[in-house]
Amino acid sequence: MTRFPIEEFTSLQTPFYFYDLKLLERTLKEIKRTARDPRFKIHYAIKANANPGILRSIQAAGLGVDCVSGWEIEAATEAGFRGDRIVYAGVGKSDNEIRLGLDMDIECFNVESEPELRIINELASEKNKIAKVAIRVNPNIDAHTHAYITTGLAENKFGITIEQLPEIIAIARELPCVELRGLHFHIGSQITETEPFVMLCETINRLQDEYDKIGVSFATINVGGGLGIDYAHPERHPIPDFESYFMTFHNHLKLRSGQELHFELGRSIVAQCGSLITKVLYIKEGSTKRFAIVDAGMSDLIRPALYNAHHKIENITNPNDDLHHYDVVGPICESSDCFGQGELLPCIKRGDLLALRSAGAYGEIMASRYNCRPFPHSYFSEN
Ligand code: LLP
Repeated sequence: MTRFPIEEFTSLQTPFYFYDLKLLERTLKEIKRTARDPRFKIHYAIKANANPGILRSIQAAGLGVDCVSGWEIEAATEAGFRGDRIVYAGVGKSDNEIRLGLDMDIECFNVESEPELRIINELASEKNKIAKVAIRVNPNIDAHTHAYITTGLAENKFGITIEQLPEIIAIARELPCVELRGLHFHIGSQITETEPFVMLCETINRLQDEYDKIGVSFATINVGGGLGIDYAHPERHPIPDFESYFMTFHNHLKLRSGQELHFELGRSIVAQCGSLITKVLYIKEGSTKRFAIVDAGMSDLIRPALYNAHHKIENITNPNDDLHHYDVVGPICESSDCFGQGELLPCIKRGDLLALRSAGAYGEIMASRYNCRPFPHSYFSEN
């Protein structure tokens, strides 16, 4: 259970992110315990949160890292991740980003198109290197999640289709400066059902059977990330059900001998350890509503405005008072700058601190400077 040191908070400039490092440590331990199959290799999707304090714990726990830009490769390297534990995806890798990956001798480029494959080959050749690559396949599986965060459907921009796969594999095998290591998949994010992952396993099994017949084998299979978390009940489920997640792959995916299975988990590792702490500026009575106007806005946490996401809101100054309804809104000049409508919360007064929970993933990292606001600071629990 995350404990908020409220006395210490009162002297800090709000809004800020607060990270419960103990919970992060427990989450990482649980991953180690449940991903005990030695063929399983976990990479942290750094896009979820690249705060150096968070990266340090994840790196120390022995995870690899999944990057989607050269800047993420730099952030990972600064946090101590070795090149040979970095995988790198993205539909639009620039030449300089590819060169950086080559200089770092990264573990794998997850290639998303034929022209990209050819450019990686060309740039590797200039450096007299062999680039390790996996082909990102779009398996056309509906992950039953928000339209903006499904990535595995046919009309998405990511990866190549199953129909295009034989041709791109043939090209990869011919190009002299790439080594085809495996296949990469990612079907979406915040997936809370098992079924899409089972379907992914079945698709991979079918593909591998086909390729076995023509003598093509892969050293790695990468199933991406996507495991969802409980936004409604962060206290009840502070750590996602990694046991069943990994068991699903253990039970349904037929790995070939010597094959490694890579995962790229982001949200499930860091979401629950982070909260955005904000101060109430005003209580404003509307004609039918009561607004709690807070000093954090969509520039600090954009998920509600962008995806209609809901983060549980708690009054941490005054948790036991009578309950009232509030619309909790930020100071930014956009109607979508709203964290919750009709929230039932213990009586809120000016100066109270509210916690927006489960904000450790895609929170701080997606902050902007809209309205010339500064980026939020971050603080960590004493470990
Ligand atoms: N691997 C690839 C190739 C990805 O595109 C992603 C996330 C991940 C791994 C990590 O997925 P996770 O385990 O975190 O679900 N900003 C959105 C989420 C965007 C996810 C993008 N890709 C949000 O706030 O919900």
